[in-house]
Formats: sequence, structure tokens, C-alpha cells
Amino acid sequence: MAEKRRRNNNIIIGLDVGTTKICAIAGEITDGGMNILSVSSHPSTGLRKGVVIDMEATANSIKRAVADVEDHLGMVIKDVLVGIAGSHIKSFNSYGAVGIKGKEVTAEDVERAIDAASAVYVPLDREMLHVLPTDFILDGQEGIKDPVGMAGVRLEVKVYIVTGAVSSVQNLLKCCERAGLEVADIVLQPLASAGATLTDDERDMGIALVDIGGGTTDIAVYKEGWLRHTSVLGIGGNHFTNDISVGLRLPFHEAERVKKKYGSILPESGNPAEVDVVAIDGQVRGIPKKYIAEILQPRCEELLELVKQEIDGLQNNGFIISGLVLTGGSSLLAGFDRMAEAMLSMPVRIGYPYLSAENFNNGSGARTMNGNATGELKGEFNNPMYATGVGLVLYGIEAMMPSERSGFSSDIFNRIIAKMAGWFKNILGKK
Ligand SMILES: Nc1ncnc2c1ncn2[C@@H]1O[C@H](COP(=O)(O)OP(=O)(O)OP(=O)(O)O)[C@@H](O)[C@H]1O
Ligand SMILES: [Mg+2]
Repeated sequence: MAEKRRRNNNIIIGLDVGTTKICAIAGEITDGGMNILSVSSHPSTGLRKGVVIDMEATANSIKRAVADVEDHLGMVIKDVLVGIAGSHIKSFNSYGAVGIKGKEVTAEDVERAIDAASAVYVPLDREMLHVLPTDFILDGQEGIKDPVGMAGVRLEVKVYIVTGAVSSVQNLLKCCERAGLEVADIVLQPLASAGATLTDDERDMGIALVDIGGGTTDIAVYKEGWLRHTSVLGIGGNHFTNDISVGLRLPFHEAERVKKKYGSILPESGNPAEVDVVAIDGQVRGIPKKYIAEILQPRCEELLELVKQEIDGLQNNGFIISGLVLTGGSSLLAGFDRMAEAMLSMPVRIGYPYLSAENFNNGSGARTMNGNATGELKGEFNNPMYATGVGLVLYGIEAMMPSERSGFSSDIFNRIIAKMAGWFKNILGKK
């Protein structure tokens, strides 16, 4: 079987290493678009709050998820784009400026400006993951999105630099390495989720993407098209499950089932009046359904209060946010979006990854997912849980295609290769 397998350079594999599941998604670059070819998800047991704590367990889950996709596609997977999250992620703003040599700004000038902005001190225990422009200023004129081709003599760039703890980054890389994979790039998970769920209009107007996963809630705020702020809250769906487990004295896996099947914080969540649960002694018992809502409500309020504090803090600094997009598995909890709308006083929607299919049209034609022209992911995978995985594939595809949207992303692939070499050198050096 193995010898029949082939490699295909047009296929990008996104690997979402989450706290509750590890998911591999294969996407194929087509003429001006993409197809999602295969998705596989396996339970994850080796992470806590988005960070690897058990390398063996994580590597095994990665192996399983990737092997499924390999079997499905009949090909060998060698490299993946992997998402990273966790409270070790820290970000800051920086600034760089360069003189323009020619008559107009070239992609190389933009690269030089970004490089100048990246030349900042980063402690030895931190790794730079992304240097993301937030504004270009040409001869004092602010608010330029793409300066390539414009006339000017001095180009300034404001950037948002995302860093991660070297140890957490390397543990993730080592898990992939143990699973027999090379990592083509490490991408901040909320950046990937945003790529798969937000529209260009939302990014322009100012939007907060809130990815409520199993172990953490990741916030990414966009304004004027750029990522401007990220943060991680240490609460996720596992806490909801844990509360049900303790409150109703149920084993964790039964509490998880009950939460997904009956969990709701809607006012009418008392219907049906009673639901059956399997208690710790194996006996089936009926419990009033409203108990589940009574347990979930305060925890959801607590989480949304933390999100509100974060957003209020930004708005108080003149950073107007027009709405919220909830994604990640826990955004499916019935009534969560309505509670968020009421508490934050702004429009809230659930971010399904299929929306990205429309967003990703970079002027060269529509893209498709699973051959569906509207770009909808089919069946069980049309779920906010897969926003990060789909976003990783989109990130990889955008990095490989010369983009018409920006003059600098065509070089991302070269940077990826350079960065990759550095990472693996570090790992090998520490062995
Ligand atoms: N229908 C549902 N109702 C309520 N919660 C749900 C539902 N479906 C999934 N969840 C919850 O979503 C969580 C998993 O979401 P997701 O897959 O986005 O997390 P993850 O990526 O594994 O974790 P993280 O991003 O925090 O590392 C689990 O806690 C699960 O219970
Ligand atoms: Mg996740």
C-alpha cells in the first residue's frame, strides 16, 4: 500500500492540535481556488489549556489523524501547517522605517520595512511567530493598506509581533516530528480561525473573533483589515463539562454527552422537563433539564464578562469594535450567542468555516470546498470546531499563491522555509 502512495505539492495539510481533538485537514490548490479533500479528527489527551503536556499521547493522536487523511488520499503526508495557542503567547507592537530607493515602492521595500520593524529585542526564551503589519505610512500619509506601486521617499510600517515560549513551540514541533512530520509553518490559532470565518467587511469595520475551544478561549481583534490584538483566556468547554460533572455527580464523559445533547442557556431550556443521565454507578436517572442550564449559565456569564472586560479595555482606548464572531466547538452551546449579544450590546454571530470560501476569492476566481460552489463544508465538518483547521489550510494556500491582495505575502513561503530551518536546528541542537 505504502509504495502506491504519492506526494502532491499542491496539497496543503492543516494540523489543528487542540485540547480536545486533533484534526488534520487536506486542501488542494485548484485554478484560482481550493478544495477541501479530506478531514480527520481524533480525541486529544496530551494537551492542557492549549499547551502540550504529554508528548507521547499528542504524537500518537497526530499520527492517527494524519494516517486517516493519508489513507483517504492514498498519499504520503510529509509537511503540515500547525496551529499554536496557549497563555504563553505574548504580542507587542513595533515600528520600522526605510528610505525608498527607486521612484515607487516595491515589494522588496515593504519587506525591508517589515524586517526593520522586526529587528527588536526578544528574550531568549521567546520565539517570534508572526510579524503582522497593522499600518503602512508613506511620506507621513497613514492608513495605506498596500503601498506597492505608490510613489514616495520614506516608508514606515507599524507591525504587531506575536511571540511564543520557545519551550511550548518546540514541544509542539517535537510532537509533529515524533509523528514523522515536518512543520512547514506554525500559525497562531486565532489567526487561522479568523481566516476561515471573518468577512473582509468585518475585518475592516472592527470585529472580535472569540474562539471558544475546549481548554481556552482565544480572542483576535481586527480593525481596518489588520489583526490588532490577541489574547487567551484560560476558560473553555472543558470547564463547562467539569461543572456539570461536579454539579450533577456524573462521570466526565457522561457530563460531556449531556452538555452537547441538552446543554442550553436559553430561557426555554426547561423543555423537555426531564432528561435521562447515566450516573457514576451506571444507573440511568431522570434529572430536571433546567438544572443543566442553571449550572451552565453562571460559567458562560463569567466567560463573557472576561471577554467584555477585554473589549471594553480596547474600546476605552478609542478602538471601536462593531461586532463579535463566536467560533470553536463551545460556541455551539444553545443560547450562548444570544447571551453574548445581551451582555456585550453588539451583534454576535457564530463563525462557521464555510464562510471563508467566499472571502478567499482573491480576484482570480471563486474557490470551492468539496466541489460545492458555495464553499460549504459538508456534513459533520461544517462546524465551528473546524474553523482553525480550515484556516490553517487557507493560510498555507495563501502563502503559496502570489497574492493580488498584498505585495508582500508572495514571499511568505521563502520566509517559512527559512524559519523552518531555524526551528529544526534548534530542536536538533537541544537533543
Ligand atoms: N453542541 C455543542 N454544545 C456545547 N459544547 C460543544 C458542542 N460541540 C462541541 N462542544 C464543546 O466544544 C469543545 C471543543 O471545541 P474545539 O474543538 O473548538 O476545542 P479544541 O480546539 O480541542 O480546544 P482548544 O482550542 O481550547 O485547544 C468541547 O469542550 C466540546 O464539549
Ligand atoms: Mg481549538
